[in-house]
Amino acid sequence: MTENQENIIEIKNLTKTYGLGTSSVEVLKSIDLNVRKGEVLSIIGPSGAGKSTLLNLMGCLDNFERGQLTILGKDISEFSVDELSNLRNRHIGFIFQLHNLLPEFTALENIMMPLLIRRVDRGEAKKSAMELLEKFGLTHRHSHKPSEMSGGECQRIAVARAIVGQPDLILADEPTGSLDSHNSLKLMDILLELCRKDGKTSIIVTHDMKIAEKADRIVSMIDGKIIEEKSL
Ligand SMILES: Nc1ncnc2c1ncn2[C@@H]1O[C@H](COP(=O)(O)OP(=O)(O)O)[C@@H](O)[C@H]1O
Ligand SMILES: [Mg+2]
Repeated sequence: MTENQENIIEIKNLTKTYGLGTSSVEVLKSIDLNVRKGEVLSIIGPSGAGKSTLLNLMGCLDNFERGQLTILGKDISEFSVDELSNLRNRHIGFIFQLHNLLPEFTALENIMMPLLIRRVDRGEAKKSAMELLEKFGLTHRHSHKPSEMSGGECQRIAVARAIVGQPDLILADEPTGSLDSHNSLKLMDILLELCRKDGKTSIIVTHDMKIAEKADRIVSMIDGKIIEEKSL
């Protein structure tokens, strides 16, 4: 097997700067990081360390100045805007700190959305979404809008939306940041069980060591650099 087949992500000497000229700030400094297929990786570090910036780059949500980023064996710096959005829609699922559900749509519709964007048949999309609602114990909430559900319920819907399309890679940026610790751990247990069962790769940025320690490896960042890696 070549390196590319084992690693879902390969990052070499990645540098990201915000701003221009004298006011520019280097927020990622020569990052090197490989993530294996099927691995669960946690990223920890103080606020401002560059965790979200790194995660957004791995999710093709932002661009960078120097270095190399390979996702699923492809150097994405060569990708067009269409190729990038296709990669995101088919292969990557995002979970954000605030659930980012669409307020005008029901729980069911929110979960169906990534499939509808992919032009999956509506009936099929509904079936997949209903299965996940059941798995998350939220069948009775299918017709509720985000404003009619609790924070924990919304976050479970957001997780369902991230995984409904069977992405290879799940990126979560402080996904339980708005939940209490009991609900946080419960949600992570569900997510990681699903990931591990299907051999999905997940990368989780978190402040919570209890959550970080559920991963296979913890990467610590400070000031735009990876300062420590620990396998668990
Ligand atoms: N859009 C932006 N423009 C300018 N600076 C930014 C922007 N986004 C983040 N930063 C800066 O980059 C640094 C890293 O931010 P971030 O990746 O959000 O850190 P973390 O997620 O670890 O808290 C911080 O100093 C932050 O202020
Ligand atoms: Mg952040």
